[in-house]
Amino acid sequence: MADLEKMLQDASSEIQACNTQNELNEKKAFYLGKKSPLNEIMKQMATLSIEGKKELGQKVNAFKTKIEELVVVRRKELEQIAINEKLMSETIDVTMPGKVLNTGSIHPLNKVIDELNTIFIGMGYNVAEGPEVEIDKYNFEMLNVPVGHPARDMQDSFYITEETLLRTQTSSVQVRTLLEAKGKPIKIVCPGRVYRRDDDDATHSHQFMQIEGLVVDENITLSDLKGTLQKVMEKMFGSDRKIRFRPSFFPFTEPSVEVDVSCFKCGGKGCPICKKSGWIEILGAGMVHPNVLEMAGYDSTKMRGFAFGIGVERVTMLRYGIDDIRNFYIDDVRFLNQFKKGE
Ligand code: DAH
Repeated sequence: MADLEKMLQDASSEIQACNTQNELNEKKAFYLGKKSPLNEIMKQMATLSIEGKKELGQKVNAFKTKIEELVVVRRKELEQIAINEKLMSETIDVTMPGKVLNTGSIHPLNKVIDELNTIFIGMGYNVAEGPEVEIDKYNFEMLNVPVGHPARDMQDSFYITEETLLRTQTSSVQVRTLLEAKGKPIKIVCPGRVYRRDDDDATHSHQFMQIEGLVVDENITLSDLKGTLQKVMEKMFGSDRKIRFRPSFFPFTEPSVEVDVSCFKCGGKGCPICKKSGWIEILGAGMVHPNVLEMAGYDSTKMRGFAFGIGVERVTMLRYGIDDIRNFYIDDVRFLNQFKKGE
């Protein structure tokens, strides 16, 4: 019996000393399994009286129960220790700086296009689209620029075949829209990319964006054009902007004008932005040439129209004070990140 007492003491301290669930399992198996030292004690059974057997049997059972209890207690302790260690290692330091999520921003050219589209939609325009790979017929011929016309020299382009090229101007969408509308009134704007041979420098690029406008109806006059552009420039550059027309030439408009807006920086007094003139050249426009209308099947004695082409890069550069057009195309995030504000 003394052996059993001693064994229980040993077992108790050994179980308490187990530091992992595995060690604990092994210890439990050692004391309660087939090779347990209990077997030695059980061998005494044969020599004992009935009373003695009963007593030993009870002691052995009590021993087993006690071992099981000790194992359960230690198992719980080990589990708790593991949880505590995990909690300690996963402590959140609320003073640590947060993770910065990199978000993109809308490209400044798209911002200006969105803004202009919204203004025009508010004035009843539809937004049209046309392909960048265009046929010569729509890019030049039907815009009153036949083969051999000197105006082609200023808009040399990237030809895919003799008849197909990367469009040099969104004006080609005028022709497409006229052909589709089949003599009916039109009121569209068309933003898009255009291509032409040019020097690449701070203010020129061989590809850039335009917004074309075309309005055709029975009684359209030059004053409708002026009123429209006046309103658009006010919305874009401030309510006290003035505009002025200067005579110009485009083969597809007659008369043709270049449109200046009074400088939004100095208000017309003269500053570096407007090159001391008080005015900023912003777009080309005019009354749709009767040849263009006739070629697209319109009766030019009944229907008239105005058209305009806005240079998106130019407006964006003025708007944000950007001095090099190449910034728009090189995808430098330091440049682009500046336009996140207000989104
Ligand atoms: N397509 C002309 C260009 O690329 C711009 C332009 C001028 C468009 C006058 C027009 C217009 O619609 O009426 O230089």
